[in-house]
Amino acid sequence: MCGIVGYVGDQNATPIVLNGLRRLEYRGYDSAGIAVLSNGNVEVRREAGKLSKLESLVQNQPIQGTIGIGHTRWATHGEPTARNAHPHIGNTGKVVVVHNGIVENYLELKADLEAEGVEFHTETDTEVIVHLIEQFLSQEEPLEEAVRKALKYLKGAHGIVVLSTMAPDTIIAARIGNAGGVVIGLGDGENFIASDIPAILDHTRRMLFLESHQMAVVSKSSIQIQSLDGKKVHLEEHNIGWDPIAAEKGEYRHFMQKEIHEQVRSLTDTLAGRVDFDDGRIHLPQLNLSPELAGRIKKIILTACGTAAHAGMVGKILLERIARIPAQLEIASEFRYEDPIVDSDTVVLAISQSGETADTLAAMEEGRKRGAVLWSIVNAIGSQAMRVADGYISMQSGPEIGVASTKAFSAPLVDLYMLAVLLADLRGVINERQRHQLVSDLRLVPDLVGKCLDREKDVLQAAREMRYIRNILYLGRGIQMPIAHEGALKLKEISYIHAESYPAGEMKHGPIALIDRDMPVLALAPRDQWYEKMISQIEQARARGGNVIVVATEGDQRAAELADHVFWVPETPWLLSPVVTVIPLQMFAYHIAALKGLDVDQPRNLAKSVTVE
Ligand code: M6R
Repeated sequence: MCGIVGYVGDQNATPIVLNGLRRLEYRGYDSAGIAVLSNGNVEVRREAGKLSKLESLVQNQPIQGTIGIGHTRWATHGEPTARNAHPHIGNTGKVVVVHNGIVENYLELKADLEAEGVEFHTETDTEVIVHLIEQFLSQEEPLEEAVRKALKYLKGAHGIVVLSTMAPDTIIAARIGNAGGVVIGLGDGENFIASDIPAILDHTRRMLFLESHQMAVVSKSSIQIQSLDGKKVHLEEHNIGWDPIAAEKGEYRHFMQKEIHEQVRSLTDTLAGRVDFDDGRIHLPQLNLSPELAGRIKKIILTACGTAAHAGMVGKILLERIARIPAQLEIASEFRYEDPIVDSDTVVLAISQSGETADTLAAMEEGRKRGAVLWSIVNAIGSQAMRVADGYISMQSGPEIGVASTKAFSAPLVDLYMLAVLLADLRGVINERQRHQLVSDLRLVPDLVGKCLDREKDVLQAAREMRYIRNILYLGRGIQMPIAHEGALKLKEISYIHAESYPAGEMKHGPIALIDRDMPVLALAPRDQWYEKMISQIEQARARGGNVIVVATEGDQRAAELADHVFWVPETPWLLSPVVTVIPLQMFAYHIAALKGLDVDQPRNLAKSVTVE
């Protein structure tokens, strides 16, 4: 989710690289850096914070050269400091690397390299790449070959760009898997490299897109594309006509739609490096969770706002069901006024995309004052919610631009599940067979989410027919109740339609009076232990003339017969089912708002990050 820019030609690379980075600025990032070959040396400048800070640094310490690379970082490993910013330079000073993705096996690789005497200078996963390349260069491999060999050691998905004094006229770019693209821009006597089209659109519209397991050797007058095993490859040239912002959205009309579709990747990333499917174990090193701490926790208080609070409601169920630890969700804006019962055996676990939500931070402070252990699940590394916590889990979702949170909802569901399994294991409440089963179920998640996304047409059809509704009732039970709340919130905030969410069992105690032909009902009824109860609730709504949408498990004819519209979801282990059932609800809210021509990404009265009480 980072931004990459590279230039080779006859012009000064520095302003071209910095301007390219500026084109990616609206996506958000936490630090930036640039490396240029200057008089046979690699010159690097890096800064934490906004690009303007890097620009000031470069103004004070200028660098001039005709070949250079730059990077904007969205931190995943290590804080967003200047030291952890890319480009990373090797110990010989001959190689620099910028990288997009997560080196899933970096701890292993780091240990091996350290055993061979390699010194590390940052907390990043990326640094292993530059040292690996240098190892092969020291065995007198040419740069191209050294990069190829190094890449073979990396697990995960990557976009990588390498610059070296050993090949001063070329930049090497490579792509493995789906960690963002690598684009080569074709110029006249100059060429460009970028992670995203807008970064180089001022210079050229002629582009090549690297596919997975391909590498490009780019000089000012030539571009050679090869597979990672060294075979020449031909790539078709594309002519791009988009404006920069449209280009960033790619095939999508809005960032929210793009972010909904990014969930296969963001969920893969949140599992990356944390789940060992072979030995059935979860690793969450940044949580600083010792067996002693795991053993003494008496209660976990999850605290958050809005969408993040809905993730917390699912978390409460997961922690209680899997780890058998009493858990409760406290809305962060209320928590500090409740005189909460908290002691040193209580964990206060904050969930926040931005990590800067004022109410969530205040709830953490309240927990700290009362002596609790503080944990957070955050998307923005280096944010306050991460810094003040005793331990954290990063969502690894990448920047979320749409105000309506989507991928930063599904990732913490998976993170909370992993946390529950880890705690259950450390407290000895699950046996080995159960642990293996719970862990192996995680493997299914990205694919199941992909299957829901493939059903977008059904959701669009329902949205077309229902876009003029004024009210709607979302019903769920058990682990689907928070999803009913989340679906209703999504619809409210971007379509301005009044949506209420209720536990289905409560209907008979009052709200059923609301149901008539003008009050549609959306019922979450996957096949789980609440299924029969949900079906009877749907029958009651139907009998009162309400239009019914049902979220149902593929092949469920009973649900199909009762519903005006069905949003099919694949069969999913029930503890992970919220990750799947929320997808059609996100798409439903999105399409209604888009069909109404509303400002989907920046709905009225709302801000992405609520930093005031
Ligand atoms: O950055 P946070 O996750 O702490 O933000 C919390 C809420 O403000 C946020 O989830 C809000 O409810 C979104 N607009 C929901 O889509």
